[in-house]
Amino acid sequence: MADDTRATGVPRRTAVAGAVVIAGAAAGCARYSEAPAETPAEGGGGEAAEGTVLGAAADVPVGGGKVFADKKVVVTQPVKGEFKGFSTVCTHQGCAVNQVKDGTIDCPCHGSKFAVKDGSVTAGPAKKPLPAQEVTVVDGKIMTGKGGKPEEPPAETKPGDKPEKPPVKGLASTKDIPVGGGKVFEKEQLVITQPTEGEFKGFSAICTHQGCTVNQVKDGTINCPCHGSKFEVADGAVRTGPANKPLPYRSLKVDGDQISLG
Ligand code: FES
Ligand code: FES
Repeated sequence: MADDTRATGVPRRTAVAGAVVIAGAAAGCARYSEAPAETPAEGGGGEAAEGTVLGAAADVPVGGGKVFADKKVVVTQPVKGEFKGFSTVCTHQGCAVNQVKDGTIDCPCHGSKFAVKDGSVTAGPAKKPLPAQEVTVVDGKIMTGKGGKPEEPPAETKPGDKPEKPPVKGLASTKDIPVGGGKVFEKEQLVITQPTEGEFKGFSAICTHQGCTVNQVKDGTINCPCHGSKFEVADGAVRTGPANKPLPYRSLKVDGDQISLG
């Protein structure tokens, strides 16, 4: 429920989207495929830190919305003066939604659509709503969070070189990883490969094209189901596009026959 719909323009300091906003529970960004519906606040949330200015409220059409792709936030204005924020990470396989049209937020990968008013699914294959992302309008600008009041920044957010989650002990046995191949650990968003005997490598499982989760290691490549990108098991480099960036490394610890993140 909007707590303030009276304004005709943009309220000076409107705490927006009261009912749908999950404070601090930012979006679950590219962390999962089939992500948990409520996106537990695991720091996967907003790529944008609290108080980040996304853009002008005037750019968000009433009944529609605008995707702030670089911040991984989509802002909608279901009724005049009521702004809502959602993660851009599609809850189907993690692609980035890229369009708001005819009352829905749309994913280009497999056609999922989410309602601008609450992020609920209006067309599958996604089954879970887009997680809410708190946004605030201050002086005509849309900001993440509660209007510039810095809070704890989300934990590690970008699919980078560092582990995104606390170390997991004994994630896999070295015997589970075929030489010349690898294995996808979907829950951890991790791929472990063994390019040559005894050499183990870890990569993010998040495709660098549009953020789907890679789901297969075969014939020397790590493969994304969404648009066919393939990455080398040896170094994560792109063998086949459309991706044009390698899969980021994730560091591993091998202890005896146990492999863990670390
Ligand atoms: S519909 Fe969005 S990733 Fe499949
Ligand atoms: S998301 Fe497009 S190929 Fe992976």
